Amino acid sequence: MSEDVMHGMNAVIRIQRFTPSPEREHHRRHSSSPFGGKARGGSPFGSSLSRRRIRGKHFTQDYTIEILPGQTVLDCLLSIKRNIDPTLAFRYSCGHGICGSDAVSINGTPTLLCTAKIEDYAKPKSNQNGNGDAIDDKGFRTTKSAENAANNSASSTDSGDSNSSDNADESNESPINQPSPSDLGIIEIAPLPGFPVLRDLIVDIDQMMNQIKKLEPYLKADDKLATTKDGKIDMFEYLQNPEELKRYELLSNCISCGVCEGSCPVYAGGEAFIGPAALIAQSRFINDSRDNATNERLDAIATADGITACQSVRACSRECPRGIDVGEEMWKLTERVKNR
Ligand code: SF4
Ligand code: FES
Repeated sequence: MSEDVMHGMNAVIRIQRFTPSPEREHHRRHSSSPFGGKARGGSPFGSSLSRRRIRGKHFTQDYTIEILPGQTVLDCLLSIKRNIDPTLAFRYSCGHGICGSDAVSINGTPTLLCTAKIEDYAKPKSNQNGNGDAIDDKGFRTTKSAENAANNSASSTDSGDSNSSDNADESNESPINQPSPSDLGIIEIAPLPGFPVLRDLIVDIDQMMNQIKKLEPYLKADDKLATTKDGKIDMFEYLQNPEELKRYELLSNCISCGVCEGSCPVYAGGEAFIGPAALIAQSRFINDSRDNATNERLDAIATADGITACQSVRACSRECPRGIDVGEEMWKLTERVKNR
């Protein structure tokens, strides 16, 4: 849809919200996966991770706002927070796809709030869930069969003709769901899947960051520092040709946003899998010619909850904001571990 056409149109932003109960909030260690405990023996990831489950109230809230041309979903949430509901909680920082702090699920797809354009995500109200089912103003989904039954009964009452199926087909859509010419549609936003929710769209990313940290994401180069004659550390450099740089340059662009983790059906199982973000960080150093800990790194991921747990679903590749083919990298790591 062109930006001119969008001017002055409304969109419904439907948000899955969560308010923790302060008096009942508690932290407890638990594995959300029946396989989590099994990986603990030889794995660096299993034993120290904890996942919090916070109790509270889950609810869905709709906000109808006017959309300006070129707006992102983040712009809409900021507008809601400033003008309608200051209690709405979400995380962002750079606003330009650089910091990776604002990953959520939009219409069921993990992505960043700040790069998601409204025109790409607004769905017509008459086909909101992709199955032709509609959602009324109170947020209830009405199925085709329920609508047909209601319409059949209404039309037979109105016309007095119980065989009038043509009338039923014509009035198949409830008047409440007829899109108005000024309606852009609806956008459904939920927290990033696979992560514990802290409040509204804010999730706890500690588990992902711990998994990345445990794989020691820093250069392990020559551990002998060059020194001057009087024992001071000398200037030195590691030379690398463009071909060697190319092997890991794209991987070094990972911003640890968690979009790949939120897309991965195995990671959603919790501690059973260290997750694609940690493995991408590991692959970045495995492919760096200056790093001399390749065998150690391959050993660290050759665990039951490491690369072995990857099922090659490749959902992780679909929405990486940095253009990394995450699934392909997982496959390359699997091959390297196997052939080492
Ligand atoms: S690989 Fe891509 S999707 Fe995954 S954490 Fe890094 S930037 Fe985000
Ligand atoms: S706000 Fe920084 S990546 Fe979206």
